[in-house]
Amino acid sequence: MQPNHNGTNPLAVEAINVTRSLPVAGEEIAILNGISFKIRQGEFVALTGPSGSGKSTLLGILAGIDSPSSGRIIVAGTDITRLPERALARIRNEKIGIVFQSFNLIATLTAQENVEVPLYVSREPGYARARAREALETVGLGDRLYHRPHQLSGGQQQRVAIARAIVTQPTLLLADEPTGNLDSKTGVQMLDLFNRLRAELGVTLIVATHDPAVAERADRVLHIVDGQLAQPTAEAVVFPVRRPVVAGVVR
Ligand SMILES: Nc1ncnc2c1ncn2[C@@H]1O[C@H](COP(=O)(O)OP(=O)(O)O)[C@@H](O)[C@H]1O
Ligand SMILES: [Mg+2]
Repeated sequence: MQPNHNGTNPLAVEAINVTRSLPVAGEEIAILNGISFKIRQGEFVALTGPSGSGKSTLLGILAGIDSPSSGRIIVAGTDITRLPERALARIRNEKIGIVFQSFNLIATLTAQENVEVPLYVSREPGYARARAREALETVGLGDRLYHRPHQLSGGQQQRVAIARAIVTQPTLLLADEPTGNLDSKTGVQMLDLFNRLRAELGVTLIVATHDPAVAERADRVLHIVDGQLAQPTAEAVVFPVRRPVVAGVVR
């Protein structure tokens, strides 16, 4: 599926009036205050906003790791907020990849073993090993299969985390501040990698970021302020799309 901005691609994600509040010191604190948007398959959307505005909270809800207090999240046509845990776990495992800000790699496992983890659920070991190697090759780490996280640079650890997120061939890839801990050159390589994954795998990308370089490369920006979209329309475009994507050509 190629990126398409005529609005004809199927919806990858729809958020409908999503709220999230958390009890803090006996009081409910509102974190997300009614967020709605639609993202089409193959889009690259940057989620921006000041620190504490709710970006990580929203990503967690989109990933099905956290639940909204009210509202709904539809991923590839399935309402994940209405699913029993078992069905949700399956969608989370098969359709959604997430790259956490702190990578969350397991220190005692090699790169290859870390990437195999999401496949342990239902597959035999030979399959997991082959797929993990393939994913590590995709992110340019085919020569680091047996390194453990502490033997890898920050950028390489990030790429292992990305390989782990794509090993199940998700349709939706979420990343939280993926360039936040990287120098600017490695950050640019990361963005090149994301765009390549989009072209080769057709994934939809949602990236929470402070980094203007990420927002610059995205198709559009959803900007959160105080738990609300700065421009709360169904398909909020805060910064207009400057460069149309020609089918198959990745900028
Ligand atoms: N577990 C929690 N308990 C209480 N408050 C939380 C919790 N997690 C996040 N928050 C609060 O929610 C708000 C949004 O946090 P977060 O989603 O991490 O923002 P961002 O990723 O944009 O920096 C912040 O004010 C934060 O303090
Ligand atoms: Mg955050």
